[in-house]
Amino acid sequence: HSEDLTNGVKKTFSLISSSTISKDSLKTSLLQLECHFTWDLHKEDVVLETLEETILDHIKFVKECNITDYNILSYVCHLKNSNEEGLRNLQKAEEAIQEHHPGEIARRSLVTWGNYAWIYYHMQRYEEAQTYVSKVENSCKKLSGTALGKIQLPEVCAEQGWALLRFGRSYFERAKNCFENALTSEPDNPDFNAGYAIAMFRLDSFTERYNEETWPCLEALKRAVELNPNNTTLLALLALELQRLKRGAEGERYIEEGLQKTPDFPLFLRYAASFYRKKSELGKAVNILRKALALTPNSVIVHHQLGLCYKLKILLMNKTRYPPQEEVENLIELAIFHLKTVIDKKPMFFITYSDLGNMYALGKRYKEAEEIFQKVLHRNDIPCGVKQEIYFNYGNFQHIHMKSESKAIEYYMEGLKMEKDSYGRKQCSEAVEKLLKQKIESGLGHATAFSTLGLVHKLNGKKQEAIECYQKAIALDPNNEEYLNALAELQLSISS
Ligand SMILES: *[C@@H]1O[C@H](CO)[C@@H](O)[C@H](O)[C@H]1NC(C)=O
Ligand SMILES: *[C@@H]1O[C@H](CO)[C@@H](O)[C@H](O)[C@H]1NC(C)=O
Ligand SMILES: *[C@@H]1O[C@H](CO)[C@@H](O)[C@H](O)[C@H]1NC(C)=O
Ligand SMILES: *[C@@H]1O[C@H](CO)[C@@H](O)[C@H](O)[C@H]1NC(C)=O
Repeated sequence: HSEDLTNGVKKTFSLISSSTISKDSLKTSLLQLECHFTWDLHKEDVVLETLEETILDHIKFVKECNITDYNILSYVCHLKNSNEEGLRNLQKAEEAIQEHHPGEIARRSLVTWGNYAWIYYHMQRYEEAQTYVSKVENSCKKLSGTALGKIQLPEVCAEQGWALLRFGRSYFERAKNCFENALTSEPDNPDFNAGYAIAMFRLDSFTERYNEETWPCLEALKRAVELNPNNTTLLALLALELQRLKRGAEGERYIEEGLQKTPDFPLFLRYAASFYRKKSELGKAVNILRKALALTPNSVIVHHQLGLCYKLKILLMNKTRYPPQEEVENLIELAIFHLKTVIDKKPMFFITYSDLGNMYALGKRYKEAEEIFQKVLHRNDIPCGVKQEIYFNYGNFQHIHMKSESKAIEYYMEGLKMEKDSYGRKQCSEAVEKLLKQKIESGLGHATAFSTLGLVHKLNGKKQEAIECYQKAIALDPNNEEYLNALAELQLSISS
């Protein structure tokens, strides 16, 4: 009897250890695959809800092959903890591959199979995961003709590029490199050229390069348009780029051309609206967005853009000498309606809470403004960068509308204290520094103003400036232990 028990224990042990070993080697193989799970795409960098919507709209309205969309959608589903749905999307990708590339199934399925393997792995269905790993490995060997099976197919590079483009600004440089890479194999491929041009365009959005002699982005867009004559998305980007280069009239002709070619393509309409919004033709922008909304009534992106357009309209109107009160109030109601719709439909579209809060404030509905800011700041699932931006907006609200400098300072500081280096943090830092310096210059600088400014410098890593501020604070309030401690700590950290 006792021998049975020992054997049983032994068996269990050997089972456990063999399954851990195979799990480890499975993980090693998984990490070698080229697919969304190995491309360093982090969910903190996107709003999953809008990303999902964007992809679904693309599938619905773009009359091209959907393989890339279904692949990335499976990854997004996984990030949303719905692996089953992820599998269903991979099945759709497989169907599309069979339909569009019946002669090249293995070559075209590498990313899809890679995602399959990873999702099964996360579902702890290791055998199925292993099956897909083997499928990829065998195909790579066949395609490369070597035993190692390391290959870099241009279409896989491009697919990585498309995925990176969907994950936000910190990914665009890498996306551009992927398309560049793919183009070295096939310089005239329309799709790769489109991706390259879009990546350049997105990168350009964050740099000001008006004075340069060459316009690589403009050239890339022109070439992409030439190679994809029916693609009005590219046409719209070309127009927006021309607008950026202060050649708006030239750009507008392309927008008009696009409106004629694809009057019912919502993705184009959104770009067209943004062209007119930037041109301050808000009426036109609103009309186009209304049309887009009729085509995609559930689109939170369109609702959000409408809200922002109305806001701009309100601000412009309010600059005139005699703003038409009734119309302004109407517009505020409309803006509130669209922004509220966004939050009702997609409660995780966090940045909209600030927009709505600001809009309530414009309508002097301060209690509701307060509530919406508090509501979002009490959530514990907001990415740091977004939360810092919300603190900045809330600080502004306190300062401008509630006339409370102390609360404004308090909330800017909250954003600054969060360590993640983000645009929102920078905004908080600049705002609070400006406020404190104003206070000090106007002679209202009590010890707390100096000590808070000291803390700002300290949080920004400027120790010397921080020390000077704390010294001034102590001069005004010599026995304050908090200041003395902060100063001592700073001096110690410099000397050591
Ligand atoms: C893309 O997907 C949509 C919706 O599933 C479908 O109607 C369309 O035919 C697909 N496009 C292609 C080219 O397969
Ligand atoms: C562009 O669209 C026209 C009209 O729909 C069509 O005849 C032509 O084949 C398309 N060209 C390409 C490259 O898809
Ligand atoms: C144009 O091409 C881009 C990149 O391939 C694609 O995302 C977009 O949906 C296309 N637009 C149209 C209108 O075909
Ligand atoms: C309009 O401008 C005035 C003066 O700057 C400001 O007090 C008011 O809050 C503004 N109203 C709106 C709706 O923007």
